[in-house]
Amino acid sequence: GLLVQEEKPLAGRKAIVTSGPTHEPIDPVRYIANRSSGKQGHAIAAALARLGAEVTLVSGPVTVPDPVGVSVVRVERAEEMRDAVLAALPADVVVMVAAVADWRVAAAAGNKIKKRSGEAPPPLLLTENPDILKTIGHHASRPKLVIGFAAETENVADNGRAKLERKGADYILANDVSPSTGIMGGERNSVKLIGRDGTEDWQEMSKDEVAEKLAALIAARLSA
Ligand code: CTP
Ligand code: CA
Repeated sequence: GLLVQEEKPLAGRKAIVTSGPTHEPIDPVRYIANRSSGKQGHAIAAALARLGAEVTLVSGPVTVPDPVGVSVVRVERAEEMRDAVLAALPADVVVMVAAVADWRVAAAAGNKIKKRSGEAPPPLLLTENPDILKTIGHHASRPKLVIGFAAETENVADNGRAKLERKGADYILANDVSPSTGIMGGERNSVKLIGRDGTEDWQEMSKDEVAEKLAALIAARLSA
């Protein structure tokens, strides 16, 4: 009935959320990664599920618990994350919150690289990882709403808008993670919502509150 519809505005909608870091192996015991707790991405997946969406959460290695009512696909590397996101299409909305490693080691070693006294440290030859958000933003089965995050330490609004254009996103939530904000790894976020027709400053709030506010925006946009 009407009550159910009001409480579950995303019923019948499919959402894909990425969260956490990716780990790019150097050898079987070492990896390259970004800092990411997965707190914000997991909170967004949970908030979308509470509004009735069918949510696939594609998560890199994190220690935060799986959100309730969400189907979780665990991955390690960026290429695995891309494959899992593509496999979860079609969807009405994607929210890319993962801190994907921009580069991976071109040829990860099959065995542990040993220190050898007197020898120079091994050089790491890197190669670029696929840009998952850009792939989805320009995909033939592009979801109606494509949303990314941008962690920036300077020129937050300009860098965020450039990413919106480059990646074919509808919104970028740009987050100031310069060390002076103390935001990185914490419970709170201070974001700018950058859209096609303008920018909105969200006051500093908890990651759960950011998730609620974003889920409400998604529900409004999908029902418009
Ligand atoms: N992203 C992605 N795949 C990548 C890199 C980034 O899907 N290989 C997504 C992130 O999940 C995020 C958005 O793109 O939603 C912006 O990520 P960010 O690292 O800020 O952008 P980059 O294009 O990698 O630029 P930068 O040089 O600032 O790292
Ligand atoms: Ca990046």
